Amino acid sequence: MSFGISIEASTNKKQKPDPKNLVFGHHFTDHMFIMDYDAGQGWHNPRIVPYQPIALDPAAKVFHYGQTIFEGLKAFKKADGTVITFRPDKNFERLNRSNERLSVPAIDEKLGLEALRQLLLIDQDWIPEEEGTSLYIRPFVIATEAALGVNPSQKYLFMIIMSPVGSYYKEGINPVKIFVESHYVRAVRGGVGDAKTAGNYAASLKAQEEAHERGYSQVLWLDGVHRKYIEEVGSMNIFFRIGGKVVTPALSGSILDGITRRSIIELLRHWGEPVEERQISIDEVIEAHRNGTLQECFGTGTAAVISPVGELSFNGEKYTIQDGSTGELSKKLYDTLTGIQRGIVEDSLGWMI
Ligand code: COI
Repeated sequence: MSFGISIEASTNKKQKPDPKNLVFGHHFTDHMFIMDYDAGQGWHNPRIVPYQPIALDPAAKVFHYGQTIFEGLKAFKKADGTVITFRPDKNFERLNRSNERLSVPAIDEKLGLEALRQLLLIDQDWIPEEEGTSLYIRPFVIATEAALGVNPSQKYLFMIIMSPVGSYYKEGINPVKIFVESHYVRAVRGGVGDAKTAGNYAASLKAQEEAHERGYSQVLWLDGVHRKYIEEVGSMNIFFRIGGKVVTPALSGSILDGITRRSIIELLRHWGEPVEERQISIDEVIEAHRNGTLQECFGTGTAAVISPVGELSFNGEKYTIQDGSTGELSKKLYDTLTGIQRGIVEDSLGWMI
């Protein structure tokens, strides 16, 4: 089904960046997808147009009350030229869960997938093929009604833009140093921590900036009530390997249901490795470090895939993990997941579309 998506091809193709020096999210492809919503008509006028600025009224609700949600996923090109995406259906499902939480009208997930398919076809030359690169896809919705009352917007735009990217962290798969944050919190249960919405990211910037000043790449977030249980690391989910078992915080309502998180859990279970999704406190992690059972720690996310943690700083003490080098399991997971994504490792769990 084409869903009546119209296409206006660009007549002014841009110069592509050097695939060997890609900075995350700085370059955008020749086209974008856009669709309108208004309360009378619902979602309508799906179209692919040349990538261009959009004009919005200064009173648009997104600027004032942050009614907006986004997604992030990646496309790759196989050696035979086939374009493949990693679990895009899961992103469109999550997009609608975030929409629901932010009182944004749901989007037909099949239409979203078809829009992405057509956009990828038209801009497939933009998919970089160097190892460690991909085409990062950013679907998002913004509230565009020009009105300052605090209530759900009557108008929205849904858009998809795409960006050829390299590693998210300059460290790549090399371990990052993490500051355990005990002053600021990211989210609380009942809030919007499990929705992919801009405010969660805006609220994280101050802590990230202070961590940078102290020489750390990112912060590790603790829960907002007890300041004790581990939630996420930067904008990623977090995993620990303790005494041979992999542990990750259970989804509590304040943690993002990461698609890479899910995939890591499924992959480990597929390999017959024990994985526990449960509450894990910072004290348990420090104790495991003291008694020598803390083997590995890594973050997972679409952008960075797997990012090993080589050092944690907590309450003025520094805890080095795996001698600050990349652990065996982190490396195996990274190689397998990126191999599946690039079409060079068998996709035995049927993730690539
Ligand atoms: C991801 O890795 O999935 C993220 O959410 C990071 C993104 C905000 C750049």
